[in-house]
Amino acid sequence: MPSLLEPFEYKGLSLKNRIVMPPMCQYSVQAKDGKPNDWHFTHYTSRAAGGAGLIIMEMTDVEPDGRITDYDLGLWSDEHIPAFKRIIEVCQSYGAKVGIQIAHAGRKAEDADQPVSSSAIRFSEQYKQPRELTTDEVKAMVGKFEAAFERAIKAGVDTIEIHGAHGYLIHQFQSPLTNKRSDVYGEDKARFGVEIIQAARRVMPESMPLMMRISATEYTEGGYGIDYAIDLAKRYHEAGVDIIHVSSGGEGTSGPASAGPAYQLDLAQAIKAALNIPVIAVGRMEDPKLADEAVREGKADLVAVGRGMLRSPYWASEASIALGGKPLTPRPVAPAYSIR
Ligand SMILES: Cc1cc2nc3c(=O)[nH]c(=O)nc-3n(C[C@H](O)[C@H](O)[C@H](O)COP(=O)(O)O)c2cc1C
Repeated sequence: MPSLLEPFEYKGLSLKNRIVMPPMCQYSVQAKDGKPNDWHFTHYTSRAAGGAGLIIMEMTDVEPDGRITDYDLGLWSDEHIPAFKRIIEVCQSYGAKVGIQIAHAGRKAEDADQPVSSSAIRFSEQYKQPRELTTDEVKAMVGKFEAAFERAIKAGVDTIEIHGAHGYLIHQFQSPLTNKRSDVYGEDKARFGVEIIQAARRVMPESMPLMMRISATEYTEGGYGIDYAIDLAKRYHEAGVDIIHVSSGGEGTSGPASAGPAYQLDLAQAIKAALNIPVIAVGRMEDPKLADEAVREGKADLVAVGRGMLRSPYWASEASIALGGKPLTPRPVAPAYSIR
């Protein structure tokens, strides 16, 4: 089995190591138009300089009212492409590969006048009452995802991640808790996600892997568990997903009994064992030894470190040194003769 520091190759994607920066919304106050700004530039390029093999840019929404807040990023217009391109190119120049997480918040869109969802079911008393999308609107929503995928590709991504986790729109369709529809999207709860995956595959180069983040278990009574998530993952894989990013929860206000080190690793391992495709493990994996063991023991192919990388942009390089490897920061060209 490889180590955390060894390269990862899949289709046309070559990562220099198996360390992933997972998507993390920045809610940047200057980003009201959905375009990444200088904060995002600094945030992402510093983690690229810090040695991460893959950076997945934060939840980026397919329409303005698909954002959690008005300070989230979007790709609903071609005007957004250059700001993403600038960040992606500099990250790539430091040796990182870059993906964008494409999403819609659905009923969790806090600043939308009236959020939309699979069914008209509120997240909680604090959230607004959503309205159910009509069947035609669901089809149109798939088109909005497709347009955002195309823009991500124009911005120069190496991969795309579809956000099917954490109780956002795709998750709302796939969960029996939130999908009470009587149309085809209710009869088959994976159908919305499947159509979005098919849309991604229509516009993505064949060689570009498609990732999807799913919640592998729900923590609410009546919610689904790992067996249901495995069936979902199989459907999504058949439709064109190459790599599953395994998270959990988000459909309700409760969470795991313990969110300690590696708290979602067994879920990643279960999906990998059932599907035999690459998975990304995430969730308190910031102990380098733990992250390395997860890969060496074949429980996950890639490991994402979120809050650890928020605390230190150089987490990847420091992890490499802690594991006996070299620093991963870009190598300077030392002067041949002069001594400082
Ligand atoms: C500030 C912040 C923003 C986040 N935004 C997103 C997001 O945009 N999309 C997503 O799928 N998960 C998001 N997450 C979840 C992380 O990607 C990750 O799954 C979670 O933090 C657990 O990993 P960790 O223990 O390494 O932090 C966010 C987490 C944090 C802390």
